Amino acid sequence: MNILILGSGGREHAFAWKLAQSPLCDTLFVAPGNAGTAQVATNLPISYNDFPAVAQAIRDKEINLLIVGPEEPLVKGIVDFLRKQPDLVSLGIVGPDAQGAQLEGSKDFSKQFMLRYGIPTAASQTFTVDTLQEGLNYLEKHALPIVIKADGLAAGKGVIIAETVAEAQTAMRDMLDGQKFGAAGSKVVVEQFLRGIELSVFVLTDGVNYKILPEAKDYKRIGEGDTGPNTGGMGAVSPVVFASKSFLQKVEDKVVKPTLAGLQQEGINYQGFIFVGLMKVNGEPYVIEYNARMGDPETEVVLPRIQSDFAELMQATATGELDKLTVQVSPQTAVTTMLVSGGYPGDYVTGKIISDLERLEDVMAFHAGTLEKNGHVLTNGGRVLAITAQANSLENAVRKSQEAARIVQFDGKQYRKDIGLDLIRYSD
Ligand code: AMP
Ligand code: GLY
Repeated sequence: MNILILGSGGREHAFAWKLAQSPLCDTLFVAPGNAGTAQVATNLPISYNDFPAVAQAIRDKEINLLIVGPEEPLVKGIVDFLRKQPDLVSLGIVGPDAQGAQLEGSKDFSKQFMLRYGIPTAASQTFTVDTLQEGLNYLEKHALPIVIKADGLAAGKGVIIAETVAEAQTAMRDMLDGQKFGAAGSKVVVEQFLRGIELSVFVLTDGVNYKILPEAKDYKRIGEGDTGPNTGGMGAVSPVVFASKSFLQKVEDKVVKPTLAGLQQEGINYQGFIFVGLMKVNGEPYVIEYNARMGDPETEVVLPRIQSDFAELMQATATGELDKLTVQVSPQTAVTTMLVSGGYPGDYVTGKIISDLERLEDVMAFHAGTLEKNGHVLTNGGRVLAITAQANSLENAVRKSQEAARIVQFDGKQYRKDIGLDLIRYSD
């Protein structure tokens, strides 16, 4: 089978690395990819938002299976576009259509969906520019802190946790009146603040059957001790010590099953990943958000733990045959530490030479933002490399990942030195 992956981050390198190990995978392409994906696949210089170019590549390379990595093309309807091509009817696709991707593309849609199907989530209210005054009044009466969310895709920057009424009102005005997030902020969801501990659960569904993949914890803030601005993710750990068997059973019964039943009820044929962002509050799961894709850097710890043939799992997702497979998971702990460019998540420079990658042993360096030029691997993004280690204990996996993070060099390199330490210390 010929496979094409869309995307250019650490998630896509992890997909490519895993798929390349499968005897079912004949040729593997990544569009546009990075210097890491080039080691295991052929990169195609195509933007994943250029749908006609993607369709043409699928024809030219005789692709049988497409895996869409990032949310943007999904929300923009790449699956709907490809489904309309009469000569591509036999193409298998992992990724939901635009309607399914609304689970991530609209916070208001996903909130209403959760309410319709009794899925536990924070209490909320939605406001638009027409109800701005009502919204501002509402904020005056609400308990603090309070969470203000832009409705649409905002690259992880559309969520404000306000500690004061003034801050909350400014955030709401910026989004609704000031168009801070453009169309993504034309609706604002105001949400009760949940106090708890966060984790992510990943579901793979073929539209009817589903598999729950290993859970993970992400470290979103730039600074140690979870301080400073949010990033795309500075590291991740899987498994998560506080996700006990009984807690994960609650997630399956109270969140996963009603989510899939709801999608079917609404006539949404969802074939792909559902990333459920959860808060564990007093032992109970609450959904913070859905994403219509895998997480990054969560994929860089989830995939190394999956022992089953990943190409077979992807194919079965696209053909509705997930019920025929089981997912074998390694009991080892995986930890990834993200190396980022100086200045990230603010302004940063790219094009710095990355050295000492060849000195790494017994870890995987998944490329997140890199580019190969004149025989050098260069930095090409805010997040540069995700260094994943696996070991029999969390302590050892943390140590191996951190040691490797120290070895790789590039000008301005930054990384968090506390990935996983909270979990080593964690007690219920
Ligand atoms: P989201 O983009 O919805 O995942 O929100 C980004 C981050 O904001 C989440 O990962 C949480 O850390 C935090 N967050 C979002 N909603 C809430 C909430 N209702 N209560 C507490 N924290 C939240
Ligand atoms: N690491 C968070 C995300 O992929 O959305």
